[in-house]
Amino acid sequence: MFDHLPILPPDSILGLAAACRADTNPNKVDLTIGIYMDEAGLCPVFDAVKQAQRALVDEEITKAYIPPQGDQAFLDGMTDLILGADLLASRKGAVAAVQTPGGCGAVRLGAEVLKASGAGGKVWVSDPTWPVHIPLIGSVGLELTQYRYYDPGTHGVNFQGMVDDLTGAQKGDIVLFHGCCHNPSGADLNAEQWQVVAQMAAEQGFTPMIDLAYQGFGDGLEQDVFGLRALVDNTPEVVIAASCSKNMGLYRERTGLAIFVGQDARAAQATGSQATAAARRIYSMPPAHGAIIAGRILSDAKLRQEWQAELTAMCRRINSLRVDFGDRLQAATGRDFGFIAEEKGMFSFLGLSKEQALQLRSDKGLYMLDSSRINVASLNSSNLDKVVDAVVSVL
Ligand code: LMR
Repeated sequence: MFDHLPILPPDSILGLAAACRADTNPNKVDLTIGIYMDEAGLCPVFDAVKQAQRALVDEEITKAYIPPQGDQAFLDGMTDLILGADLLASRKGAVAAVQTPGGCGAVRLGAEVLKASGAGGKVWVSDPTWPVHIPLIGSVGLELTQYRYYDPGTHGVNFQGMVDDLTGAQKGDIVLFHGCCHNPSGADLNAEQWQVVAQMAAEQGFTPMIDLAYQGFGDGLEQDVFGLRALVDNTPEVVIAASCSKNMGLYRERTGLAIFVGQDARAAQATGSQATAAARRIYSMPPAHGAIIAGRILSDAKLRQEWQAELTAMCRRINSLRVDFGDRLQAATGRDFGFIAEEKGMFSFLGLSKEQALQLRSDKGLYMLDSSRINVASLNSSNLDKVVDAVVSVL
């Protein structure tokens, strides 16, 4: 049966991280996968997570399944963190939240519910977008199309192109936005641009779907959901896919949730039931560990404060790496790399060709995606010189 089964190429992100791990070059540097690395080159466990985890280990009395919709403290804490008290009050009873295995699980369940709704429209994704969006959404049978987003010439958002393209999005269509810290470009909309987009959604009737994987890594926990909240405030129905992989460092615990904002309580019940039924078909119910930890952090004032302070420190460090890296590239080449400091979150494109990215990989052991997306959060004072020298060598 398996004789003719094709062997698939490795994943464009996970495969490169594995290739870097296997590389014996002592000077190798991995700037591929979006994981926050500290000065020592390690992905740290948040101290708030350690404390919540310790308490959980001591108090846990069962490993029985959690309910299909997930851990309630987690769902309540995250829904509040993302939507905020005002929106929750104005959309009272019309919000359903379902815990998922990471943000991927949330995108998939969101797509499953959208497909089940029979809207029949297209899903618009930014050009470019995180590559996994395509199979996650496409595999449920929804048709995808692209809207212009990133302009390699200006290293920023091509907002006019985005607006022109989205003028074609109509009722029944879904438009996927990155809530903050656009992956792969790091180029985000400003507040005014979010308002324009929210107005378009209201007038044209398309349904926003928001992938929120980096809340807290842009301008702050509240600021990073400005656009999301504008969309929810202006449209009757919104799907949100959120993750605690990055902002609580719970990557391997697969901790995420899908939020469905509908018109009323019946719609909330319908979306929740569809999402849990889809989960049952695919993986039954979500894992408990990460969500219980996140729920504890969000519901304990002291832990929550500590977590926020740790997250803020990580974000500040990434921003100072952005400035440092951009300045050094600029000093070495005379070219303008100021855009690196302007962009948000973990990623930026360096603007290199695929050939240059491959050459850096083979000649210098410097791993970035073929698109020249780098994870700025993997830079540190020990690898910065190496990375700058390597990049300059191919420019
Ligand atoms: C990334 O884009 O590197 C991260 O979101 C990790 C992943 O799963 O691809």
